[in-house]
Amino acid sequence: MKVVAVYSTKGGVGKTTAAVNLAWEASRDLRVLLWDLDPQGAATFLFDVKPKLKGGVDALISGKTDAGKAARSTAFERLDVIPADDSYRDLELVIDGARKSTQRIARVLDSVRGDYDVVILDCPPGASLVAENAIHVADVVVLPLVPSPLALRSLEQVGGLVASTAKKTPVLAFLSMVDRRKTAHRVALESLSTIHREVIDVFVPATVVIERMGTELAPVATFAPTTEAARSFAALWVAVRRAAGLKKSKH
Ligand SMILES: Nc1ncnc2c1ncn2[C@@H]1O[C@H](COP(=O)(O)OP(=O)(O)OP(=O)(O)O)[C@@H](O)[C@H]1O
Ligand SMILES: [Mg+2]
Repeated sequence: MKVVAVYSTKGGVGKTTAAVNLAWEASRDLRVLLWDLDPQGAATFLFDVKPKLKGGVDALISGKTDAGKAARSTAFERLDVIPADDSYRDLELVIDGARKSTQRIARVLDSVRGDYDVVILDCPPGASLVAENAIHVADVVVLPLVPSPLALRSLEQVGGLVASTAKKTPVLAFLSMVDRRKTAHRVALESLSTIHREVIDVFVPATVVIERMGTELAPVATFAPTTEAARSFAALWVAVRRAAGLKKSKH
């Protein structure tokens, strides 16, 4: 079982969008669990899963609720979701109060190791203990970057957080919400992957097709399979899959 953490210190850059679409791509041939770690519950909403966790996140972190029992099936085969509900607002405190506080998420996932091939963590923004846990357990950290100077800071920040851990998890960054009409975005497309070795040359365009996920309640490839957005997420998954150390798909 490999773990992919979709994370940035910066908010609103396309983490949840990437997590949802990567989960769907992965589920074409692998058993996938997406864990919504954000109290906003956007991934839970996009997969049309009830935002209810029995016993709350407290019971999940303490081991009273098994992760397998907390997982809900979705409309898609081989794709389950651990939903976020209001109790996630206390997740930071719950983790902080537990023993070995940077390894709580890893410990919870131990119980589903045989049930899934890939776990995708949709992390909240910010440099929190939740993020530290996600980085600790991840085989790869996937970082969406909106082409702007502030977003680039998030690349440095996440790089710093990863470097401070013993594991040195690889970071895979990609440009997100790219608008080729904007000069800064075109410049970023041409230069970033040559300047920063973490930035791959797959990018996700800014497009209304992606916004439609909010009304379709489904990953892009299921309702707009021939679009550039769908192709981008498919290409992104190929890169993430390789970086996570998963075998190549037979597709
Ligand atoms: N490539 C894109 N093109 C157009 N809209 C996009 C794109 N990616 C994301 N969005 C929209 O931008 C908003 C923020 O995206 P998303 O929720 O994926 O970001 P996030 O990084 O998870 O945010 P948060 O930090 O709040 O968790 C959403 O409304 C989403 O539909
Ligand atoms: Mg999000």
